[in-house]
Amino acid sequence: MTKKIISMFNNKGGVGKTTIIWNLAVSLAAAGKKTLLIDFDPQCNLSIATIGYDEFAEYFETSENFPFGKTIRAYAQPYIYQMEINEIHFTQPKYKPEQEEGTLSEKKVLDIVPGDFWLNSFADILTVGTDVVSGSGLYRFLVPLLLVNKLEEKDEKIYDYVLIDLPPSFNTLVRSALYCSDYFIVPCTSDLFSAYCIGLIGEVLPKFVKDWQDGESRFKDSNPYDQIIKSKGKPKFGGWIFNGFDTRKGEKLGADRYQFNKIAEKVENKLIPELKKIKAYQCIPEFVDSQPISSIEDINVMAPDSIGQNVPIKYLSKKRPTRDAMKQRAWNPNQVKLMNKVNQEYDKLADYIIKNI
Ligand SMILES: Nc1ncnc2c1ncn2[C@@H]1O[C@H](COP(=O)(O)OP(=O)(O)O)[C@@H](O)[C@H]1O
Ligand SMILES: [Mg+2]
Repeated sequence: MTKKIISMFNNKGGVGKTTIIWNLAVSLAAAGKKTLLIDFDPQCNLSIATIGYDEFAEYFETSENFPFGKTIRAYAQPYIYQMEINEIHFTQPKYKPEQEEGTLSEKKVLDIVPGDFWLNSFADILTVGTDVVSGSGLYRFLVPLLLVNKLEEKDEKIYDYVLIDLPPSFNTLVRSALYCSDYFIVPCTSDLFSAYCIGLIGEVLPKFVKDWQDGESRFKDSNPYDQIIKSKGKPKFGGWIFNGFDTRKGEKLGADRYQFNKIAEKVENKLIPELKKIKAYQCIPEFVDSQPISSIEDINVMAPDSIGQNVPIKYLSKKRPTRDAMKQRAWNPNQVKLMNKVNQEYDKLADYIIKNI
């Protein structure tokens, strides 16, 4: 199997992209899939959650030996300026599954290329008109892919899945990740704006694809034998996720049912039809419809606690809670039940990906 690159994407912030990508990666790794995370968000939340605050601070610090730090910048910046050194730094999340489960021979692979606040500058360096549409700088938009290819070559690593975390926007970083990706998955929350934002993707993505196509046809004239550019710029919709709904009132979706229906309706009547109009490739695969591929409950205090302790939900119930440490020495049975339930949902999402993608 060749690696599959998946972006977790929504132009809206706070919908759970980072939380889902981390926990999904843990489930994929637990299922034996060699997984790489790339933090492509200048906010670096994924790096902070997985590596921990203090250690991450050492990664982005620049020094004489590491003029671009030990993050994605160490590869991206020299690449853009065509310098000779371009190092790739990757690490592992602080909490490794092997610590509690599995024998050495079943060693799980979960690596991360840390993000960098510098990515904001990288976003400015990438220019849509000159780089993409003119075709002259298409490769600059493939930096995440080139990085993975180089990493595999250099360290003799082979990944099954590469998951890219993104900022909440339609900026050049998002374009770059989408141009590299085989699929994108859209998390949504139960709120007023999610339906609007997912509809917007239907307006914007076809434009991104058109720009790439224009650039590619110009690029082809002077690079007739290139194989990479023509195979990229074709991200497919892998489905949407309903994240953080509340079941405390007992009913399955409770008060969130109204927003859920609005989102599903928008996916059905706007997103899917708009993406189906893309001629260059089949953007909507057969296995995708307007229903969410996963529905994840609100885990309230456990979400920030997981980030604070750098422990994914799968393993959090084995740890003591920190936030309410004074009041609560252990998770209560309902919290453990909820964590197990949500963990099962992440595992199911991983199965969906393994089966389809
Ligand atoms: N299922 C969930 N239940 C409760 N809180 C959640 C859940 N998923 C995410 N959160 C919280 O919501 C906030 C935003 O999530 P995050 O993953 O950072 O979103 P994004 O990456 O889309 O901005 C974070 O504080 C996170 O802990
Ligand atoms: Mg995020």
